Amino acid sequence: MKITVVGAGNVGATCANVIAHKELANEVYLVDIKEGFAEGKALDIWETSPINLYDSRTIGVTNDYSATAGSDVVVITSGLPRKPGMSRDDLIATNAGIVQSVTENVMATSPDAKIVIVSNPLDVMTYAAYLTAKVDSKRVFGMAGILDTARYRSFLAMELNVSPKDIQAVLMGGHGDTMVPLPRYTTVGGIPVTELIEDDKLEAIVNRTKKGGGEIVKLLGTSAWYAPGAAAAQMVEAIVRDQRRVFPVCAWLQGEYGMSDIYLGVPVILGKNGIERIIELELNADEKALLDQSAEAVRNVMGVLDKMNA
Ligand code: NAI
Ligand code: 2OP
Repeated sequence: MKITVVGAGNVGATCANVIAHKELANEVYLVDIKEGFAEGKALDIWETSPINLYDSRTIGVTNDYSATAGSDVVVITSGLPRKPGMSRDDLIATNAGIVQSVTENVMATSPDAKIVIVSNPLDVMTYAAYLTAKVDSKRVFGMAGILDTARYRSFLAMELNVSPKDIQAVLMGGHGDTMVPLPRYTTVGGIPVTELIEDDKLEAIVNRTKKGGGEIVKLLGTSAWYAPGAAAAQMVEAIVRDQRRVFPVCAWLQGEYGMSDIYLGVPVILGKNGIERIIELELNADEKALLDQSAEAVRNVMGVLDKMNA
């Protein structure tokens, strides 16, 4: 088993560290465009192996995809965060250029890989990778829902003073303020969360979840990496161990939820082939309206990319 993580920055290096620690592959490659950066991060991670007692080798390379050839799974985290003075469209153009050139390199060297996108804006960068990869959409998908549900579950665990392990939740839609946490599909040890928490507190947690990424940016001046890195590694684990885990994943919809030709967060079964199945939940009218709003927001950004590619 061989895994590659592209982008050795905060999220990529954290993801590679978790993958190595869990021994998900014999070799874990880190790729970055900055000379020596991936090599340094990979060496530092490898030097934890005698302490943390694992065998997975982490190997860093500067933009050398030949070393990563034949990877089973590739995680793409390369991309810039939004900088002052940069419009949303500038960010889309810059990151789409990065994601598309990385995807070309990945397809040329690891044509059978499952591709997990992390770069933002997530839903549209996943779309950009899919357009470039030209492979079955079950092999190209994005990470956001595991992170967003993890935030939701961690806030509920604090509020209820219970273990986060016992909180199960579904969250759908795009990775942004329009995401749709679903309290009706949230349980605590099998008990509907709505029986354990007052409506106003639950609503406050849902709103905090929607702004969870921004909360970290305000505190740190840059975006999160521990939870995003761990979330991407959890997707890699489900694939390489063929766990058939049920996760919210940014997937290409072709008729599901009444939508087509859009990447959007939906519950899926994730296994050795990538997306094994998209699960279609029964949504009530309010939930469906929120999902439609979120899809509309994603479509607007997809339109920006389509215009750039036209
Ligand atoms: P970072 O700036 O720490 O790391 C990005 C790395 O990508 C840098 O080391 C840079 O040199 C590298 N890079 C740039 N162009 C490259 C190329 N063509 N080939 C290879 N490497 C290249 O950023 P961080 O915090 O790791 O975030 C990475 C991306 O992930 C950002 O777009 C961020 O917005 C996104 N993100 C997405 C989340 C999600 O839930 N989907 C959560 C957190 C971050
Ligand atoms: C996050 O949700 C900004 O996508 C990034 O932390």
